[in-house]
Amino acid sequence: MASIKISAALISVTCLLGCGSDGAPSPPASPSGGGNGGSSGGNVGGHAGDETSGGTSGVGGSGGQTGGSGSAATAGCQMSATDAEQPMLLSETHCVDMTDPTKPAAGLIPYDVNSPLWSDGAVKERFVSIPPGGKIHVKDCAMEPDTCAPADMGGSGADEGHWELPVGTVLVKNFSIGGKRIETRLLMRRNETTWKGFSYEWNDAGTEATRLSGELDKDLGTQVWHYPSSSQCLECHTKGAGRSLGLTTAQMNRDFAYADGMMNQVEKFQALALFDTAPTMIAGYPDPFGTAPLAERVRSYFQTNCSICHRPGGTLSDIDFRFTTPYEDMDLECTPIIRGTGDPLLPQVRLVPGSPEESSVSFRMHDVTTYRMPRIGSSVVDMAAVEMVDEWIAGMPAPAPDTCPPP
Ligand code: HEC
Ligand code: HEC
Repeated sequence: MASIKISAALISVTCLLGCGSDGAPSPPASPSGGGNGGSSGGNVGGHAGDETSGGTSGVGGSGGQTGGSGSAATAGCQMSATDAEQPMLLSETHCVDMTDPTKPAAGLIPYDVNSPLWSDGAVKERFVSIPPGGKIHVKDCAMEPDTCAPADMGGSGADEGHWELPVGTVLVKNFSIGGKRIETRLLMRRNETTWKGFSYEWNDAGTEATRLSGELDKDLGTQVWHYPSSSQCLECHTKGAGRSLGLTTAQMNRDFAYADGMMNQVEKFQALALFDTAPTMIAGYPDPFGTAPLAERVRSYFQTNCSICHRPGGTLSDIDFRFTTPYEDMDLECTPIIRGTGDPLLPQVRLVPGSPEESSVSFRMHDVTTYRMPRIGSSVVDMAAVEMVDEWIAGMPAPAPDTCPPP
């Protein structure tokens, strides 16, 4: 698995957000001629971690929005120390441009991941704000074997190459459906052990978003959108997976169209001096819907969508969906289910080679009722993904009679 070479799937660049006030994104001077989607970082200048708060010291050398958002750059996108201090309006968080909350504040770094979480068809944008002077530590099992011990033996549980973000980091994710912004999520690291997530609901006009105090299901006409509660954030942003999920070398090892051109994201963070030690490169996860072999694409999908809970130290650790876990060790094939055993509607085996219909894994991904997987935050089946998983299972040689599960 470790030797997978991927060339990140290139989809055309759209200036969804973060096309700075200075207009269109600079065309990426890339041999591949395309971007990786997401925003193009007109705002990357004036990163909060730069000593020169004027912001021209160049995250990406662009110096983006120095004129436009002085106040935001001064206050910065900071974590709140207590829940009561977390602003009710998104425009007051300093994580977005105060005059136009659809744009990120100066200093936020846009990024994209190789293998995204399925979010019921929403288009997403991601940004990170690293506090001034803060450094990212990347988990490296060769350098620090202790942190890579099993989670129940004192290891951190997070993947190798996980980016441990400094206290004060704020992560931002925007969700749009049908071109309309519906939700912005903020996830922050308050201290060594505490992370906190907030959900902001956008108004119909798309001009402002308001913090929710609990979960909410909203009928969008075409689908029901679930806004998770703060505690639900942490049911997926599990301790076992390291709380922040997308910032790992295998997710970040891909190109991004920054304001000053195309660059590999890991190299960009390195160029910005945001790591305490230069990280070892790790091959990027294959695009689940790209051109890598089927089994690798399936495993990439499971890594992001399932392994956050189903891993050692996760909420349900008797299945291991991590990308690096050998197939035999996932505890899927011909393994009887543990939950829902009394329900005749539910396939009784986790995975029956050759037979998606008899496999609980497939059933769980098709279901939209009580058996739905992932368990929270999704009510729309990811058809492309279930077809891929079913194709994968169907292509496996069928087991000998009466061996699956073993008697
Ligand atoms: C169903 C599981 C799930 C739930 C519930 C969930 N997240 Fe996430 N979130 C993920 C995964 C997986 C990623 C990484 C992949 C991606 O970005 O597509 C992620 C990424 C993020 C990111 C980008 C930084 C990172 O950690 O990768 C932010 C910010 C974020 N989530 C905030 C929140 C907040 C705030 C909540 C609660 C209001 C929440 N999330 C609820 C699974 C979840
Ligand atoms: C938010 C955490 C979470 C995520 C994400 C998640 N699961 Fe689960 N999963 C659980 C929990 C908790 C259970 C046990 C409760 C139940 O049976 O519903 C479970 C049960 C299961 C079972 C039944 C196992 C048995 O032996 O009975 C299967 C199969 C499964 N999940 C597959 C998946 C797949 C496939 C994905 C990704 C598409 C996924 N899960 C994502 C939390 C999660």
